[in-house]
Amino acid sequence: MRIDVLTIFPRIFEGPLSESIMKRAIDKGLVEIHFHDIRDYSEDKHKRVDDYPFGGGAGMVMRIEPIARVIEKLKSERVYDDIIYTTPDGEVFNQKLANTLSLKGNVMILCGHYKGVDQRVRDLYITKEISIGDFVLTGGELAAAVIIDAVVRLIPGVISDETSALTDSFQDNLLSPPVYTRPAEFKGHKVPDVLLSGHEKKIEEWREKQAFERTRKIRPDLLEDDKG
Ligand code: ADE
Repeated sequence: MRIDVLTIFPRIFEGPLSESIMKRAIDKGLVEIHFHDIRDYSEDKHKRVDDYPFGGGAGMVMRIEPIARVIEKLKSERVYDDIIYTTPDGEVFNQKLANTLSLKGNVMILCGHYKGVDQRVRDLYITKEISIGDFVLTGGELAAAVIIDAVVRLIPGVISDETSALTDSFQDNLLSPPVYTRPAEFKGHKVPDVLLSGHEKKIEEWREKQAFERTRKIRPDLLEDDKG
């Protein structure tokens, strides 16, 4: 998989992508991530990429020309399955969408800023608008980093324990059951007996029940619909 990120703050991604599983996935060549600084495509002598909104109002709007230049350059080099725009007014990201995106070949992610991008960018180029939740970030970079993390870990070979991604919370519309490790007792707080019993079937039943109970209490909406 190849991901091209269009941003005015490429350095925001350095931390999240340079550690742990993401770093290994990149080093192994399981995913290629390329960053494009939109400012490099500005013809303005001050490298400005935003301007005042037509019709007035607060905040600045990202201009179409620099963004169009990067997108068109990249599109001339390869075919993209999706061109994503991170924005609080997009479709809310979830595990189902992460699964779908993990099967793509080439994906672009445009990180929004200020009051947003000129609507014509969205009309002309964007194929998917994604929000990571009902809150507003200072920019789309952290949202893009979250999406990349959730998608890349699903690419075969990225997580060493192959079954691990399949048993995540949400893969079956349920939250994960509680987990424990040694010691079996901490300051009088014991690990549930069943987990120490060695009785596989009982352990499985206990985990299913716990997962269901947790979901019913914390996220009953997951039991009611098919959001994935
Ligand atoms: N940009 C600002 N807030 C965002 C959000 N919640 N999701 C995606 N992009 C954003």
